Amino acid sequence: MSLMGILDRVADLDTFDKVIEPARRAVLSALKPPALKNALHGTWLGHPLHPVLVQVPVGSWVSAGLLDAIPPLRPAATLLIGTGVAAAVPAALSGAADWSEQSTGVRRLGALHAVLNTAALGLYAGSLVARRNGRGGLGRALSYTGLGIASASASIGGHMSYAQSSGASHAATAARALTTEWIDLGPLDDLPEGRPALRTGKGSSVAVPLAVVRRGGRVDVFVGTCSHLSGPLYEGTVERLRGEDCLVCPWHGSAFDLDGGQPRRGPAANPQEKLEVRMEAGRVLARVPARNR
Ligand code: FES
Repeated sequence: MSLMGILDRVADLDTFDKVIEPARRAVLSALKPPALKNALHGTWLGHPLHPVLVQVPVGSWVSAGLLDAIPPLRPAATLLIGTGVAAAVPAALSGAADWSEQSTGVRRLGALHAVLNTAALGLYAGSLVARRNGRGGLGRALSYTGLGIASASASIGGHMSYAQSSGASHAATAARALTTEWIDLGPLDDLPEGRPALRTGKGSSVAVPLAVVRRGGRVDVFVGTCSHLSGPLYEGTVERLRGEDCLVCPWHGSAFDLDGGQPRRGPAANPQEKLEVRMEAGRVLARVPARNR
């Protein structure tokens, strides 16, 4: 069986759900303050934060592994290991925030990812202690073992991103399925005021739901599936957040500003795909932006 097949089998296992679910509830409860939640997801950045932060421990530990192979450079390796240990903490916190609002299979693999990362972090911390106590050989053995475990864990994280689409924009995928032509969404007067309405956009092979919001004579049109996990934005609400009108997802409460689609409240960290709009004889026409054509 391929590595991908093994990881898919792990994602199907419900054996550890009794431990995973209470842990998830604890993370969700710790993330009640919106500022903390938005900070850890990367909502403020308009990009998931976890893949940005993990560069530091991964890069530091891989580099330390190379420097440890050259005796005169081992003090530099120790410095890099310490940098990686310190940077692993915020990376883990942002990963835990994302993990807590993912689908079941992603949470199962994410739990394994977290256990392996914790083991690697413990080994690197032990390596620092050993090096400080003059036991360089033991320190290198611990850090190389940690590097092996962290690498295995990174491959699981890659599977979660690339095969399970955790962290990917689900709205961008849907936008790519839309026709590149202008889509007739019907008369402006048929749209309700100040709440999203469902319209269907012609796709190249399948129809794509759109969320259409009218505010007076202005209309904003978004891909109808939320960038976070494909929730139905056309069943959401319009709320005012920090002075901006936002479209709010009914599934996990992510909010996207109506003017640009930027995330204003997590868990979404990716923007919501927004279509170009024009009016013609009282009818609303929309088209995917050039980047999605
Ligand atoms: S699907 Fe999670 S916030 Fe929309």
